[in-house]
Amino acid sequence: MSKILEVKNLTKEFDKFTAVKDVDFFVEEGGFFSILGPSGCGKTTLLRMISGFIEQTSGDILIKGQSMTGIPPENRPVNIVFQNLALFPMMNVYENVAFGLKRKKIEKNEIKESVLSMLSRVGLEGFEKKKVTELSGGQRQRVAIARSLVMKPSILLLDEPLGALDRQLREHMKIELKLLQKEIGTTFVYITHDQSEALVMSDKVAVMNKGRFEQIDTPQNLYKNPKTAFTASFVGESNRFDIKRDGNHIITSSGLSFIKDGLQNEVTQLFIRPEAFIIEPAQDDKDIQQMNIKVKTILFDGSNTKISALSEKNDEILISLPQNSKFDDIKEGDTIRVGITQDNLKCF
Ligand SMILES: Nc1ncnc2c1ncn2[C@@H]1O[C@H](COP(=O)(O)OP(=O)(O)O)[C@@H](O)[C@H]1O
Ligand SMILES: [Mg+2]
Repeated sequence: MSKILEVKNLTKEFDKFTAVKDVDFFVEEGGFFSILGPSGCGKTTLLRMISGFIEQTSGDILIKGQSMTGIPPENRPVNIVFQNLALFPMMNVYENVAFGLKRKKIEKNEIKESVLSMLSRVGLEGFEKKKVTELSGGQRQRVAIARSLVMKPSILLLDEPLGALDRQLREHMKIELKLLQKEIGTTFVYITHDQSEALVMSDKVAVMNKGRFEQIDTPQNLYKNPKTAFTASFVGESNRFDIKRDGNHIITSSGLSFIKDGLQNEVTQLFIRPEAFIIEPAQDDKDIQQMNIKVKTILFDGSNTKISALSEKNDEILISLPQNSKFDDIKEGDTIRVGITQDNLKCF
């Protein structure tokens, strides 16, 4: 696989404020790369530098090995889909998708062929004459993507394109977008503050915090092996404890104690995923550190059951129950034994 996009030590300063700091990554051709971070962390600024709408303070952007510095947006082989989609409300679907090609003075028949073939690829065959104002949110989304893809960009940049949709449609569109990307094979660079979007759709995800990248990894690794406390707390759900270390003992501020071998550095925070707890493990299993918890409430959301419980030191603990009918009779007020293995104690 070749690198289609290389971003090298990219920094953007606005007066004294650094919005993007030393960002360094590459994207492989045909990949789906997401940049995940909270609002205000610099995602849009980074995308605007790649598209050429703003100039970096330092660093470089290479597309297919060629530096983009000094190259205006219209001459870069990229296209953006914005959160608000920016469709032309007075135009029908066909005219919206044809817009960029017309501006490029492409011949009329060629435009027609490209637009119709793109509309069929995004599942909007027969929608040419519809006003975009008559479409559903998901259909408008697909028009916006068709309008960008018809320009045959090497890279499609997407700035929180599902942000304005309601939850159900967003769930559906994230799967559709991933399938569409696989089918057409265009490289996607997707930014979002929604971790589930990033995890579901991407081959690689960069977690961004305060202008910097904290970790670039596969969705699975980000979840299983977060390298920083920020990534551990931003990606997925966790129980978090303030801790002190004494040799291979870690002690929470409430007084819970765990053994964790091999820690080299000072650590101050412990993260445990809700699903990392083992319910009623074998009592004599030395590899499982065990404690009693008191069930406060059962949280059933249709597909999963979690329990919110109190530790013996009164810490609130969230635990996922495995789907197994032998736990069906756990109820509020019960005391149950749970266990955890060392590798599920993530310390930072
Ligand atoms: N043109 C600008 N001038 C000054 N500050 C800006 C400008 N554009 C963005 N910022 C600041 O940079 C930070 C990152 O913004 P942005 O890239 O839009 O974040 P995100 O897309 O992750 O929400 C914010 O604090 C924002 O206020
Ligand atoms: Mg933004």
